[in-house]
This record gives sequence, structure tokens and C-alpha cells, in this order.
Amino acid sequence: MTTAISTTTVVAVIGAGAMGAGIAQVAAAAGHTVKLVDTRAQAAQAAISSIQAQFSKMAEKGKISQADAVAASARLIAAQQLGDLADAGLVVEAIAENLQAKQQLFRDLEGIVPADCIFATNTSSISVTAIGSALQNPQRLAGLHFFNPAPLMALVEIVSGLATPRALADALFATASAWGKTPVHARSTPGFIVNRVARPYYGEALRLLTEGAADCATVDAVMREAGGFRMGPFELMDMIGHDVNYAVTCSVWNAFYNDPRFQPSLVQKELVDAGFLGKKTGRGFFDYSAGAGKPAPTTEPSQTLPAALSICGDGDTARALAERLSAAGVAFERSTSADGRIAQVGTAVVFVTDGRSATQRASDGGVADTVLIDLAMNYRTNTRIAIAHAAQCSTTAVSSATAMLQAAGMNVSRFADVPGLAVMRTVAMLANEAADAVNQGVCTAAAADAAMRLGVNYPQGPLAWANQAGPITIRDVLANLGASYGEDRYRISPLIQRHVFSGTRLHD
Ligand SMILES: NC(=O)c1ccc[n+]([C@@H]2O[C@H](COP(=O)([O-])OP(=O)(O)OC[C@H]3O[C@@H](n4cnc5c(N)ncnc54)[C@H](O)[C@@H]3O)[C@@H](O)[C@H]2O)c1
Repeated sequence: MTTAISTTTVVAVIGAGAMGAGIAQVAAAAGHTVKLVDTRAQAAQAAISSIQAQFSKMAEKGKISQADAVAASARLIAAQQLGDLADAGLVVEAIAENLQAKQQLFRDLEGIVPADCIFATNTSSISVTAIGSALQNPQRLAGLHFFNPAPLMALVEIVSGLATPRALADALFATASAWGKTPVHARSTPGFIVNRVARPYYGEALRLLTEGAADCATVDAVMREAGGFRMGPFELMDMIGHDVNYAVTCSVWNAFYNDPRFQPSLVQKELVDAGFLGKKTGRGFFDYSAGAGKPAPTTEPSQTLPAALSICGDGDTARALAERLSAAGVAFERSTSADGRIAQVGTAVVFVTDGRSATQRASDGGVADTVLIDLAMNYRTNTRIAIAHAAQCSTTAVSSATAMLQAAGMNVSRFADVPGLAVMRTVAMLANEAADAVNQGVCTAAAADAAMRLGVNYPQGPLAWANQAGPITIRDVLANLGASYGEDRYRISPLIQRHVFSGTRLHD
């Protein structure tokens, strides 16, 4: 197994902005002498002072010893120019996201550092292959993609360009591990892992909004309280900034030759055009001006539960519902289910969405009073659920289904009848994208899941989630979304299809 670079290796970090400063902190804490350089006067020194203040604070809180804080602080050096980096054994570049600037920098460095010095770029979107093409020796370059803030985020994507030898990627992998990070290998393809696989989290939410499924606050609440995501998509986009989020989407979309899976949203473009960039400008999907409160999600008022209640089948969702109703002291019958229904309450027949609209499902199954519920990460603990009802469903049936879910302890958010609701269509698309990345050799399935858990804090990896929901369910949801919209966007990854046909899991 390849070993990490020695702590006696001098690490040069170029660019003392948000990322460069964070990376310098990580490398110094791991024991390296770190030379920080920036073209802005005093930027490197200012960053070092702030890192040293961080180390002191960590020592005060007992997270590191006073001696370690002093030693790590002393290992940070502000270099005045590239010429001062002649003793570097690893250069980590974190300058502006511009191909020509990065190529020029590495070309200049080739004439300064020793021939065996490793080059690493922290680019989030530029091809590592393209950066390397400017070098006399492109085999010395790989991507070392940290996440913001680098000292706190565990994930590092080790990105191999076409010329990157495996041994170099392995050495950086071992080094990132030695620095306390969780590295994953990725091939240099647009968005690498995280910035590619995460696109549907925003893309499907923007579509839900465009189609009037529910308002932003309600979709966010469903994604948090049923999906288990830390932040809903709209509040997250507001936090990231629409200029940044829209630019990443456009860059991935363009790089994949306008693949409809990544198609940007006009709703988001409008926000960018208006200068409503999110939290940083005081307005995005939400209003952040002084005194403006956060809008509450739409929640159905309390409904009356009819006496006739039957929980159907022994699938996990039905069992979870039965447990919750029993715990709440609600009486119900148990029955078998031939058509996949999970409950019958009054005249309402309740199913988990399979990517068809409730209206289509009512028509296909000949059951007018059809009500669909969304996917929840854990049907035993979710505090909210989205529902949709068929156009032909009676008001009483909607009320009965709502009452049952409320009796089981869930807030109910009623959506317009969009196919796949919110959590289900998002998770299906996240899993589909992760599966395609794996199928195209960008990364392993385990790496895709680890990247999404650690890089963007998903409650579980999309492929593990697909295993939990069942590859057949994910396949059906995607097929039904594809049929509903008639778009190539929802085409099913060949990897998911293979797992459906072989009856195997997407990974352990
Ligand atoms: N901000 C993020 O969330 C994030 C996350 C992962 C990766 N990245 C990537 O990391 C890199 C840096 O991003 P950032 O957010 O730290 O940017 P930033 O604007 O905060 O910092 C960039 C720094 O580089 C300096 N600089 C520019 N050209 C230089 C040059 N030729 N030589 C030396 N210094 C130079 C600038 O003066 C600035 O201080 C980019 O490639 C970006 O895509 C950013």
C-alpha cells in the first residue's frame, strides 16, 4: 500500500483565500511546514494570523494541546513569491477557478520546485486533465478537492486526470487520510462526484416549484422532516448563493453536452438575473431582510379519522404505519394487499408513490379515491409527509387519509398531483446519478455514497438509500417519471437496470 508523504515534506499552498487558508491549516496541524503564497499583498500573512488564532482557540477549548498549537502555528510561513517554494515536496493550488491561471501557475512552478514535487489542484470544476496538459510532466498532477470549510469537512476527492498515474493518486489518498480526512478516488469528469451527483437535489426541487407542487418552505420542510436532509433544497440554494449554484449547474450541463439530466432552471436564472442571490444579498427564494420571518410550511389542519381503517400488506411502510398507530392507541384491522396499497381508510386507498401521478394511478387501478404518500427515510420516525391525491378522489377520502397519517404522528403537507412527489423523485434521481457515475468508472459505489454523506451531509448515501427502497422501486419511479414527462432526463442508469435483473444490491 502506498504511504503518505512524510511530515518532513514541505507543503506549499498557493492562494490564501477561503480554501487555501483551510488547507494550510489542515496540513500544518498534520505536522508539515506549510508555505502559503498569494498574489494579494499581505493575504498570506493575514490568513496565517487567522489560522494561528484558530489553533489558540482550539487549545483553549482543549481540542489540542497548547504545545501542539504553538508548534503548528510555528510551521506556517508566509512566502513572498513562488521562488521561495524551491524546497516544496507537495504544492496544493487553491487560486481562482480559471483554467489559464492554473495552467500558468503550474508551468511557472515547474521551473522552481524539484522534479519529484507533487502538484495538486483544489479545482471544483475544471478538468484535471486539461490543467495537466500545460505541464511538461502532466504525470505529477492530480486533483485534491477539499470541501468548505476544509478544516471541518472530512471529504477529499482525489481526482485523477488522464495522465495521472495510480501511484500518485494513491499517495495523495494516503496523505489525505494521514491528515485526518476521508478521501475517495474519482476520475476527472465534470463535477467529479459530489458536484455531479448532487445536481438533482436542486434540479428536482426547482422542477417541483415550476410545476406548482408546493411552495419553497413546504418542499424544504418535507425534505428535512421526511427525507432526513439537514437543509431543504431552497434554503440550501439560498445559502450557497444562486450565482454559484447556477454556475455549477450550467458548467456540469455544458460539460455533459447539454444532457437534460443537468438542465438548469429558468426559475433560478431569474433569481440570478434579478440579483436575488440568496442570503448574501438579503433575498433569494426567501426574504432575509431585517424583521422578515421565515415562512412556515403548509400543513393540513387536523382531520377526523373514520372508524374503518385497515393497514394492508406486510411491507416495511405498512408495518411502520401499524406500529405508529398502535403506539398512538388507534384501532385498525390488518389485511393483505394485492395491489401494493399500504392502507385503506374510509373510502381512501393509500399507496407509496411509484412515480406515477395519483390521477394516473387512480385511472390505472380503477380506484378513484387514490391518495399517494411520499418516500420517507424512516417511516418509523418521520415527522412530516407529503401527500397527493387523484383528481377524481373525493374530498372526504383526502381528509380520511390525512387523518390516518396525523393519527400516526405526522404533519401532512398536501402537494399538487406531481409525479413522484418530493423525496421519492429526488432520491431516485440522486441514486440514478450516483449509479451512472459508478457505471462510467468515475468512482466506486462505496465512494459515491461516502462522498455524498461527507461532502454534502446527506443522511445516507444515495445507493444505500436505493438498496433500502429497493432497486426495483427506484427503477419503476424513474420509468414512470420518464413516461410522465417524456424526457430523457429520467432515463434509467444501466447499472440500476442490471441490479434489478440480477436481484442484487447496489453495494453492501
Ligand atoms: N469556496 C468553495 O466552497 C470551494 C470548495 C472547493 C474548491 N474550491 C476551489 O478552490 C479554489 C479557491 O477557491 P476559494 O473559494 O478559496 O477562492 P478565494 O477567492 O477565496 O481565494 C483565491 C485566492 O487566490 C489568490 N490568487 C488568485 N490568483 C493567484 C495566483 N496566480 N497566485 C497566487 N494567488 C492567487 C487570490 O488573491 C485569493 O486570495 C478554486 O479553484 C475553487 O473552485 C472552492
